Amino acid sequence: MIVIIGSKEETHSLYMYAKIRSMGHRVCLLDSRKYPKNISIDWSPTENKAKFKIGDDSFSGDDIEGIYWRWYYGIPYEKVSNSDDAVNSIIYRERTCLMSSVLCSLESKSYNSIQAVELHQKKAYQSFLLAQNNIRIPKTMITNSPEEFIDFCKKFNKNVIYKPVRGGAYTKKVSGEDFTLEKLQRLEKVPIQLQEFIQGVDIRVFAFESGEIFPAKIAAKSVDFREDTSAKIEPVILPDKVCEDCIKILKLFGLKYSGIDIRLTPEGEYVFIEANPAPMFIHFENVTGFPISDTLISKLKA
Ligand SMILES: Nc1ncnc2c1ncn2[C@@H]1O[C@H](COP(=O)(O)OP(=O)(O)OP(=O)(O)O)[C@@H](O)[C@H]1O
Ligand SMILES: [Mg+2]
Repeated sequence: MIVIIGSKEETHSLYMYAKIRSMGHRVCLLDSRKYPKNISIDWSPTENKAKFKIGDDSFSGDDIEGIYWRWYYGIPYEKVSNSDDAVNSIIYRERTCLMSSVLCSLESKSYNSIQAVELHQKKAYQSFLLAQNNIRIPKTMITNSPEEFIDFCKKFNKNVIYKPVRGGAYTKKVSGEDFTLEKLQRLEKVPIQLQEFIQGVDIRVFAFESGEIFPAKIAAKSVDFREDTSAKIEPVILPDKVCEDCIKILKLFGLKYSGIDIRLTPEGEYVFIEANPAPMFIHFENVTGFPISDTLISKLKA
């Protein structure tokens, strides 16, 4: 059995579900929002024995060959007791603890594991790890101080981008408007991530810990390549050192595969931006012809 963590509303979950099924393999979708109504889990951590029932599918932990982690919705907070919020919070915590614990125990079969996904939620710490391990990333400052913001921008001659500390919004270049009193005062409420702007083109690399590397250049017209949906995508060949660094990053972050973002400067320097633990790939695969889903499925079946 291959388990997909995602939902019927999510494109990549559905794509992988259909593809794995068409290969004649057992596959099911684990939509965590459906626990415990439509999902049951019985787990003995001491015996390392688990039984799952997801919709009409029943299987044991040993039956699971691989887990494709695409989108984890968590466990919704539910008003089981109308009168007592403390009881509802305890129920929520109990459900969440079981689900996340059992997923942690399946780390070795998971592409990627809950541990790696949770580490990615600490993006600033990941930047620290990369810098500590001599991987070139943009010079970075995370601050909620208007003075630090102004100092950092001065240092890089306003050639600076800002983006969320945790991610989830497009990267923007700092402009004159960002220095108004109103904007600067907003900073006092929430930290922002500032980076030197890396001039150049984007490279997205799908890298697997076993060494398969699929890199392509994305010639976007926007600062954040995701904003230019018509950007041309073309396979490229990376220097050995960059491929080695990609594998080093996977090891550092406990990733079995990743969609790694790099900027290549006009001077030929490769600057690492981010390693995504559950990257989208359908469009990239269609355009480049790289066998990303086939490689992933071959690992899940192993
Ligand atoms: N320092 C930088 N210089 C130039 N471009 C950058 C820089 N940082 C990010 N970008 C552009 O923005 C894109 C998104 O950056 P990044 O993945 O760090 O953002 P994020 O907010 O973490 O995104 P996510 O929503 O994936 O979590 C990069 O792939 C690149 O195109
Ligand atoms: Mg990103």
